[in-house]
Amino acid sequence: MSGTKRRSAGPQADDLRFMKIALRLSRRGLGLTEPNPMVGAVAVKDGRLLATGFHRCFGAPHAECMALEDLAVAGATLYLTLEPCGHFGKTPPCVDLIIARKIRRVVAAMADPNPLVNGSGFARLQAAGIETRVGLCREQAERSNRHYLTFMRTGLPYVAIHAGLSLDGKMTDKAGRSRWITSPELRRCAHGLRGEFSAILAGRNTILADDPHLTLREPGWGGKQLLRVVLDSGNSLPHDLNIFKDQERSPLVIFSSLDAGERKKRTARHFFVPADDQGLSLPAVLGRLAEMGIASLLVEGGGRVIDSFVRQGLFDELVLFHSGRLVGGRDAVQPFCSGIEDLAQAPQLADCHWSHFASGSIMRGYRRCSPD
Ligand SMILES: NC(=O)c1ccc[n+]([C@@H]2O[C@H](COP(=O)([O-])OP(=O)(O)OC[C@H]3O[C@@H](n4cnc5c(N)ncnc54)[C@H](OP(=O)(O)O)[C@@H]3O)[C@@H](O)[C@H]2O)c1
Repeated sequence: MSGTKRRSAGPQADDLRFMKIALRLSRRGLGLTEPNPMVGAVAVKDGRLLATGFHRCFGAPHAECMALEDLAVAGATLYLTLEPCGHFGKTPPCVDLIIARKIRRVVAAMADPNPLVNGSGFARLQAAGIETRVGLCREQAERSNRHYLTFMRTGLPYVAIHAGLSLDGKMTDKAGRSRWITSPELRRCAHGLRGEFSAILAGRNTILADDPHLTLREPGWGGKQLLRVVLDSGNSLPHDLNIFKDQERSPLVIFSSLDAGERKKRTARHFFVPADDQGLSLPAVLGRLAEMGIASLLVEGGGRVIDSFVRQGLFDELVLFHSGRLVGGRDAVQPFCSGIEDLAQAPQLADCHWSHFASGSIMRGYRRCSPD
């Protein structure tokens, strides 16, 4: 893509302007690049935007390759939202291409914590005499890539908990029905949320009560595979449930206890992990998902499962969809039923963001990483 030349507002302001374009581009890979990061690239010379690129999906060319593919102008500046790689992976090293295209200067938002990169990309650029500036818009770049960064730094998937709640915080009515807790408008948003993640998880009771498909139904996510994960300690879910359908498009992973009768596999990906009286070991579940390359997980419930993730501090983000209805009922399912003894122990969220709709609101709050 080429653009018109604008009068330069000075090198610093130009850097900021072009980095913001690269960041916007990078987000076009949202939900599609994992376990790779989202990356945007913009090539500029004399204030003129020459080419752009972004990492479209896992296995596709890197953003730098897309931007530099046909670029024959030596002396350009390249804006990148992440350090370029210097090693052979699914694609050749981007650093080699940057050097071959005679890029004069690289401005990058942040280093790549991947141990295969981790500063070596910048070192190779500098060794080749390319001027590098690192850290511009670092905070925004880190927020955008929070799934990837958490996966790289902890070795476990980024975990977001999602629940649809009445105004008074109930996930179901007294009879355990959750279907109409939120409005159709909010439910559409909730389905869209699934597309941002690599996997979605639910507990056995939710699978039995709601018989959900746990698939991606919102337009815009065609072709994306979402891994569905179910916790069924006893390995006893009936086989005619919707979750067992459509496994080609949406593969199913079941976790059961090591003691589950006969340990008979119900799907190609059926894993047996330790359990105690609180249920299956969540660290073991997350560890197994990480080994499968799952960088992000959306926990969709129900109440007991969410309670386990919250109690064990195994979440990075909370996404609550609030309707305007009052439901009440002591026995209605709620998201953190075990509670805390003392307010001082309450899990604290940072950076809570509210979006308001005619029929309710959505809150996204974060623990370890910051939001977009
Ligand atoms: N409003 C919403 O957003 C929403 C979303 C989802 C569900 N729901 C509603 O929530 C209700 C179900 O919630 P629920 O609390 O009864 O059950 P749940 O959280 O869906 O499932 C709990 C079951 O999962 C299994 N499990 C295995 N390991 C676990 C662990 N480490 N921690 C917790 N559970 C583990 C246990 O059964 P085993 O020991 O047999 O394996 C446990 O009884 C349904 O009525 C559904 O409609 C509402």
